[in-house]
Amino acid sequence: MKKVLMDCDPGHDDMIAIMLAAASDEIELLGITTVAGNQTGSKTFRNALRILTLINRKDIPVARGFDKPIVRELIVAPEIHGVSGLDGADFPEPSVKPLNMHAVDFIIKTVMKSDENVYLVPTGPLTNIAVALMKEPKIKDKIERIVLMGGAVFDSNVTPAAEFNIYVDPEAAKIVFESGVPITMVGLDVTDKAIFNFSDIDKLEKTNGRVSRVVAPLLRFFGNANKEIYGFNGAPLHDALALSVLIDRSVVKTKPLHVDIETKGEFTRGETVADVYGITGKAPNADVAMELDLKKFKSMVFKLIGKLDESLENRI
Ligand code: BDR
Ligand code: CA
Repeated sequence: MKKVLMDCDPGHDDMIAIMLAAASDEIELLGITTVAGNQTGSKTFRNALRILTLINRKDIPVARGFDKPIVRELIVAPEIHGVSGLDGADFPEPSVKPLNMHAVDFIIKTVMKSDENVYLVPTGPLTNIAVALMKEPKIKDKIERIVLMGGAVFDSNVTPAAEFNIYVDPEAAKIVFESGVPITMVGLDVTDKAIFNFSDIDKLEKTNGRVSRVVAPLLRFFGNANKEIYGFNGAPLHDALALSVLIDRSVVKTKPLHVDIETKGEFTRGETVADVYGITGKAPNADVAMELDLKKFKSMVFKLIGKLDESLENRI
């Protein structure tokens, strides 16, 4: 079992990532920290609590992190995730009690006290992770790997050059990519293909499980937004694909590349500048996902959400 800490900004695809982590036998989820990104810090935090309430996992600790990027003003994505950050279905009010500790301190404490090395899975802007690395550099030796959703080699979404998570806090991304900690970058090159299409969503809804029947309309909302803006035929489960790599490594194929983060460009802020042809001669600092096994990924999503449905049925 891998020890995992998630840092996220839920967000529809963050939600599926949390669900996979909570349901998988391969993962011991040590906690969830939240950051501002898809929506404001208070909304993404509340959404994490709502998700855990829905799946009845009050045992998973949640700590709230930064409300804005290290240097820049916050940019949110209501056009993709709605005003709540998780629009599309009715949710129970959160009854999960969060920790009274900042995300950064929770990350440091959890990593330092763990008997085994910990995997960090950031699926939002990298603000909390960068500050944790700065505040306590000793955690670097105890992080097995950072498996993050962010960036792209050949793709983009928020500008013609950049992916949202890196664009929102490029200074944080630079700190993380230059930290020397092993990184797996699961970016848009693969996550834009990790589409849960509208017929998958219908199929999920028909199972009528207590989790599925909330998740399906949420994904339909998210899919419709992505259809409208990017022409996708459904919901790209970006963050869930990143998390899935810890459950089954063979879901993606990676290439070791050197990746620099553009923090200054007039048109290219937040670009992950990947040295595909080794032109700079700089050593690779990330394993970058370039291909995915969509069938394997989708069946994992169906299986693990089904498992959450069952776990709730068994409680009645
Ligand atoms: C990333 O941005 C957010 O909107 C998603 O949750 C995902 O983490 C995709 O660019
Ligand atoms: Ca996210």
